[in-house]
Amino acid sequence: MVPFDFRPRARVLFGEGEFARLGEIARETGGQRCLLVADPGMVQAGYAQEAARSLKARRMAVQSFHEFTADPNSAMVEAGRDFAAPHNIDLIVAVGGGSSMDCAKAINFLLSNGGNMSDYWGYGKAAQPLLPMIAVPTTAGTGSEAQSYATITDSETGARMACGDRKAVFGVAVLDPKLTVSQPASLAASSGYDALSHALETLVTTRQTALSDCFSRSAWRLINSGLEGITANPQDLDARGELLIGAHFGGLAVENSALGAAHACAYPLTAHYNIPHGVAISLVLPSVVEWNMPAAAARYEELYRGDLPERLRQLSEIAGLPGTLRDAGVPQEALPRLAEEAGKQWTGKFNPRPFDTAGALEIYTRAL
Ligand SMILES: [Fe+2]
Repeated sequence: MVPFDFRPRARVLFGEGEFARLGEIARETGGQRCLLVADPGMVQAGYAQEAARSLKARRMAVQSFHEFTADPNSAMVEAGRDFAAPHNIDLIVAVGGGSSMDCAKAINFLLSNGGNMSDYWGYGKAAQPLLPMIAVPTTAGTGSEAQSYATITDSETGARMACGDRKAVFGVAVLDPKLTVSQPASLAASSGYDALSHALETLVTTRQTALSDCFSRSAWRLINSGLEGITANPQDLDARGELLIGAHFGGLAVENSALGAAHACAYPLTAHYNIPHGVAISLVLPSVVEWNMPAAAARYEELYRGDLPERLRQLSEIAGLPGTLRDAGVPQEALPRLAEEAGKQWTGKFNPRPFDTAGALEIYTRAL
């Protein structure tokens, strides 16, 4: 069996309306001077102001940083560091989706350990302790609140830098399903599908352990049900809750295992065709599961009695996602070059069936 070293580090609160307790929870961590990291969409939705009010009501000084976009780059993170540096920050609160949470972790590296973002590319590059952090995810998808990595684009070279450290974790995650209702339906569907892929990929990787298995299975069960629920009725708070916890468990599964060929095939689609991550995943996941069958059929069957690739295609259709690469604007002649890039992705190394350029081309061709 694959050994593991599980270090649960986070307090996790789940419930409708828990967001209102943010100030009280922040106080309990001992912080007094807070940096609030929330993307501009959070200002528009009013959640950033609500968070600031809740923190100030508990006599905390709050500095709010919003100047970053989806897929934050190193220049944005450095601007966040410069903004926060004079205020002697002792707590960071992230409100938003994966970009807010990644940005918060990245600013934390620079504030507490100095240097530039590229100094943290890789794993375990921070020598000093990081500031305590609280995450309030408002999308059910990446599960970044459960992970010790921030993915930041180098603003000079365009490289996607995965910067991880055991210390770069949120001490508290506040999961309030009410916050996810404001998400546009298409974003909810694609990020939910991404979360679903985290459950399925972690279930079968070569890094899969008895522990990640618990999270993968619970995540699958919750998301398989929740994704259908929110498309039938976007206001269904039970379904929203299932997705939010499912995405959190998916994040924990990724943190304790690894991803596989679907993520390796999805990254080049996003890089060259600007296809959002969750949509790129939905385009390749059913084909990856089919391609993995010779190596992983028993584990898939244990999880889902029935035609799993068919169920995945059905969920993508229910969620209103494009069905094929062609539908998404990817022509056949692009496949060999995409496959070459996919074959080089680090995450493909953990796929249950040995994965390379030839495998990627087979998967893309099925997905065409
Ligand atoms: Fe993903």
